[in-house]
Amino acid sequence: MKGVILAGGTGSRLYPLTKVTNKHLLPVYNRPMICYPIETLIAAGIKEILIVSGRGHAGHFLELLGSGTDLGVKFTYEIQEKAGGIAQALGLAEDFVDGDNVTVILGDNIFQDNIMDDARDFKQGARVFLKEVLEAQRFGVAELEDGKVIDIEEKPAVPKTNFAVTGLYIYDSEVFEIIRTLKPSGRGELEITDVNNYYIKKKSMEYRILNGFWSDAGTYESLLRAGMLVRQHMQNKSVEVLLRAELPVP
Ligand code: G1P
Repeated sequence: MKGVILAGGTGSRLYPLTKVTNKHLLPVYNRPMICYPIETLIAAGIKEILIVSGRGHAGHFLELLGSGTDLGVKFTYEIQEKAGGIAQALGLAEDFVDGDNVTVILGDNIFQDNIMDDARDFKQGARVFLKEVLEAQRFGVAELEDGKVIDIEEKPAVPKTNFAVTGLYIYDSEVFEIIRTLKPSGRGELEITDVNNYYIKKKSMEYRILNGFWSDAGTYESLLRAGMLVRQHMQNKSVEVLLRAELPVP
């Protein structure tokens, strides 16, 4: 199992915080944001990790993370020349993944759960990780029926369920063939939701519901909440109040 962290994009929703630095290097409590997805992959037992970042700040990722030796892993770096969406960024990982299975995590997603069992028992197809949230219209939203995901809608105005599709996915290497068939969405990007719906149609999509807290950190409000969640967790305090507060939909 290989690991890929997608840390490209312009971070426009966090401007001007992202005017001179990359979103994934901003602080979330006591660490740069990207350290959290790295920890999730390492805790899952994944040792070969590719970091895909935009052109402007690639050197900063190298300076921060180096080779990975001190963490007992190996980091590889890839540049996404232009922000073309999550699926386009993942497409750049094809040579690195080299026919293996791959766990993909968005660089602005912070997870409490340990997914070691998922990384170990995954065989083929795809697996998404869902979390019940208050403001599902901010995310990809999963529709479930008879223990299966039957559809995912990207940021629907009226969500059919409260199950957000989090930024954590496991795929077999067919994902790269699927990405080649995608067409840009209304916002001009290759959407990871289109990849997931392809696997759903093929009946090879599984899902898990996460137990621990989860937050993205790509807006002012979610960045602040992510830091507070991490702080509460590190101080062994309850995170419930933070999770009960609905965040504005940008
Ligand atoms: C992306 C995905 C969305 C997912 C979210 C998780 O959205 O497109 O399906 O729910 O990440 O953070 P973004 O926030 O990058 O627009």
